[in-house]
Amino acid sequence: MKNTLIGLAAAISALGASAMALHAQTPARNVWDGVFTADQAAQGKALFDAKCATCHGADLNGQEMAPPLSGGIFLGNWSGQAAGDLFTRIHTTMPGNDPGSLNNAETAQVLSYILSFNKFPAGAAPLPTDDAALAAITITAEKPAGK
Ligand code: HEC
Repeated sequence: MKNTLIGLAAAISALGASAMALHAQTPARNVWDGVFTADQAAQGKALFDAKCATCHGADLNGQEMAPPLSGGIFLGNWSGQAAGDLFTRIHTTMPGNDPGSLNNAETAQVLSYILSFNKFPAGAAPLPTDDAALAAITITAEKPAGK
């Protein structure tokens, strides 16, 4: 019994250590750091115009039932959340008339366009599509000090 408990404790601390190692591989980033490429945003604009603009408006200001995807209300909804949460929201529920029809790369492009439209800067590396990397990118409406 005692050995089992010690084994369990060792397994739990090993788990903790590997979780920390994983964390170290995906450094925390912020949407102000340049987390997508200009190329992704350009491809995302074409997708947005074809698949999202009918409901959300070509200038992302929303109409009827579809909320704005730019400006204070939108950023207020998402500020403090991870880019991964917004990615999942789009990937699983949008477009409203054909949910789940965008693949990972397309979702990343359309999200890059939305970020770019909201004046977040493009960078050298593409927006990732894997959960851990997306979860490590925080959306903040205001530019953090020192960025
Ligand atoms: C048929 C109309 C329609 C289309 C097309 C559509 N949406 Fe939506 N979208 C909505 C509606 C309605 C809501 C709010 C209700 C809901 O969540 O279903 C919404 C909500 C959202 C939200 C959540 C906004 C927030 O701040 O909570 C995002 C993000 C979004 N849409 C992105 C997209 C993207 C990206 C596309 C294109 C790939 C798209 N939508 C296409 C109707 C649409």
